[in-house]
Amino acid sequence: MKEHKIEAIVHICEMGELSEEDRELVEAAKQATYSSYAPYSKFNVGAAVRLRDDTIVIGANQENAAYPSGLCAERAALFAAGAQYPDKPVIALAIAARKGKCFLPQPVSPCGACRQVISEVEGRYGIPIRILLYGTDGVLVSEGITPLLPLRFVKEDMNM
Ligand code: THU
Repeated sequence: MKEHKIEAIVHICEMGELSEEDRELVEAAKQATYSSYAPYSKFNVGAAVRLRDDTIVIGANQENAAYPSGLCAERAALFAAGAQYPDKPVIALAIAARKGKCFLPQPVSPCGACRQVISEVEGRYGIPIRILLYGTDGVLVSEGITPLLPLRFVKEDMNM
C-alpha cells in the first residue's frame, strides 16, 4: 500500500491585508447576511461572487419549513450569477455568517454540497475561484476550491 499525502495550503489574513476588491467582496457578503431567511437555524449566511467584469452578485441562505428545500448562501449566489450572467466567469466568492448581531469569529466553512458546486463553476469557466471565508478573527483565503475539496468528483471522472 502506498501512502498518498494531500497538502492544502490556505492563508489567514487580516482584512487590511486583502486587496480593495476582496475587501469590497467580503463587505458585500457581510451585507448579504441581512437578506438571509433563516427562521429555523437563526444562522444568517451571506455570499458574494465577483464576475470577471467586476459585477458582484449576492446570495443569502433561504430556509424552508420542509428543511431540505432550503438553499445555502453560496449556492444561491452562484446559481443567481449563472442564471443572470451565464457568459461571465466567476473569479471570486466571499462568505460571511452571523448569529444574531455577531459575525462569527472563525471563518465560516462552506458545506460539502456548496464546495461541489464551486468546483463545477470552476470547471465551467476554467478559472480557479478565489474563496474568502470571513471571520472577525481573520479571513481564510483559498486560491481555488482544491484545498477545500481535494479528490473531488469532476466531469472528467465520467470520461466526458
Ligand atoms: N448554510 C449556508 O448558507 N452556507 C454554508 O456554507 C453552511 C450552512 C446555511 C444553511 C442553513 O440555512 C443554515 O446555514 C444552517 O445550516
